[in-house]
Amino acid sequence: MKNSIARTTGAAVAALALSLNLVACGDSDDGTSEGPTTGAPETSTSTTTDDASAGASSTTTATGSSTGEPELGCEFQGVDFELGAPQLLSEMCLLEWTGDQFSYKENVYPYELNTVLFSDFALKRRAIYIPPGATATYRDNEVIDFPVGTIILKSFVFAADMREPDVNLDLIETRALVRYPEEWKAYPYVWDHELGDAVLTVQGEIRPIEFIGPDGIMREATYLIPQKNQCQECHEIKDEMGETVMTAIGPRPRYLNRAYDFGDGPVNQIAHFQDAGWLEGAPAIDSIPAAWDHRELADTPIESMSYEEITAATRDYLDINCAYCHNPRGVNGISSQLFVNWDNEDPFHLGICKKPGSAGKGGENREYDIVPGDAEASILVYRSETLDLGAMMPLIGRSLVHEDGIGLMRAWIDGMPPDDCKADEPDPMPP
Ligand code: HEC
Ligand code: HEC
Repeated sequence: MKNSIARTTGAAVAALALSLNLVACGDSDDGTSEGPTTGAPETSTSTTTDDASAGASSTTTATGSSTGEPELGCEFQGVDFELGAPQLLSEMCLLEWTGDQFSYKENVYPYELNTVLFSDFALKRRAIYIPPGATATYRDNEVIDFPVGTIILKSFVFAADMREPDVNLDLIETRALVRYPEEWKAYPYVWDHELGDAVLTVQGEIRPIEFIGPDGIMREATYLIPQKNQCQECHEIKDEMGETVMTAIGPRPRYLNRAYDFGDGPVNQIAHFQDAGWLEGAPAIDSIPAAWDHRELADTPIESMSYEEITAATRDYLDINCAYCHNPRGVNGISSQLFVNWDNEDPFHLGICKKPGSAGKGGENREYDIVPGDAEASILVYRSETLDLGAMMPLIGRSLVHEDGIGLMRAWIDGMPPDDCKADEPDPMPP
C-alpha cells in the first residue's frame, strides 16, 4: 500500500500461511465431524468460475489483479463442514479485493447496517453468501434465520484519511461466520497484500495503525485483530434451550431496513434480498421498523436533535455496541445484569439507579450505572469513555474513544428528569 498506515507484519503472516496447514486441513478444534457434509458438494455443482462471473447480477468481476493461485479455488463456493474453512480466503471464491474495493461473486450480497459497532473507526464491508437455491426466513427483531451453508463476511479497512474513505485504503482483515447445522462458526482471515490473499489466522495480532480520523484529527489505534477464540466473547448467546451457541449479531430486520446501491441505484436491502429470491416471510417493507441511521450523526450535530431522536439513537447505539453482551440471553456480560438491548423496558436492568454487581469496578467513585440527569456521575458513560483496561467497555474491540457515541449517551442521560437515586421506590422508565 502506498499510504501512511503502519503495516508491520506482512512477512510474519506469510510465514504463518505455511504453518497453518494443520488448521485448514481439519485438525482444528471445530473443523472436524461437526455435521453432514452437505454444504460443499451441493454448492460446487453450481458453476464454473467463468459461469459465476457471467451470471452474477451486479458486482461480479472474476478477472482481477490478484496474484498467485486464487483461480485454483474458484470452483468451490462454500465451506465443507468436515474440512472446516479453507486456509486461504480466496479458496472460498466469494470475493476479490481490487485494491480499493471488493468485487463479489454470484450469490454474495453486500449489505450495510443502520447502526454499527465502533471498532477504532475501522470501515466495514459486509456481505452475505447464500448457497444456490437456499432460502432464509425473516424473523422479527432477531437475526434472520439463514440456511445452513450461509457465509457472512465482514472486512475491516482503514483509510489513510477517513474524510476520504474511498482512497488510500488498507484492508486489514476479513472475518467469516459460517452457518453450520448446529450453530455459526467463526473464522478470522488476515490480509497479506504481498500474497494477494487473506490467511486463516487463529492467534490474532495487535497492530499499530495511524490514520486521520473523520474529524481530521490524527489517530493512533492499537488495533486488535482478535484471536479465533475471542470471536465467541462477543458472538455467543444462550439459545431457547439455554445452550451457549455462536450467533450472528447484525443482520436483523431493523438494522437491515435501509437503502443500498447494489449497482442500479439505491434500493431497500430487505426488498432486494426478497427479489433475489432467497429471503422469505418478510412483511410489507414499510411496516418493518428501522433502527436509527448512524450516518445522520455525521451531518446532524447532537444539539440539533430532539430528545426523542437522541433517545432512539442512543438506545440503538447501545444495542449494537453493548447489548450483544448486555442482554438477557448474553453470555459474557450476564453477570452484570445490565441489559441495554433496545427493547428492554425495565429501568433497573437498563442501569437506572442500578449499583454495579460485585464484579463491577472501575466507576471511580461513581455509584450507579445511570444517574438520571447526570451523565458525568454515570458509570455507563465513564466506562464507555475510559481507556483504563480494567474498566473500559467494551472490554475488547476498541483502543480509542468514540466521541460521537459518548456524546449521544451524555445527551440521553443529561436529558432524563433528574434523580439522585436516593429514594427507595423504584424509578419510572425515562421518556
Ligand atoms: C468486540 C466484540 C466482537 C468481537 C471480538 C468479534 N465480533 Fe464479530 N461482530 C460484532 C458485532 C457487534 C457485530 C454486528 C455489528 C456490525 O457488523 O458492525 C459483528 C458482526 C460480525 C460479522 C457480520 C455478521 C454479524 O454477525 O453481524 C461477522 C462475519 C463477524 N462479526 C465475525 C467475527 C469473527 C470471525 C470474530 C473473531 C475473529 C469476531 N467477529 C469478533 C462484535 C464482535
Ligand atoms: C464483550 C462483552 C461486553 C461488551 C461488548 C460490553 N460489556 Fe459491559 N460488561 C461486561 C462484563 C463481563 C461486565 C461485568 C464485569 C465488569 O464489571 O467489568 C460488564 C459490566 C458493565 C458495567 C457495570 C454494570 C453493572 O451493573 O455491574 C457497565 C456500566 C457496562 N458494562 C457498560 C457497558 C457499555 C456502555 C457497553 C457498550 C459501550 C458495554 N458495557 C459493552 C461485558 C461487556
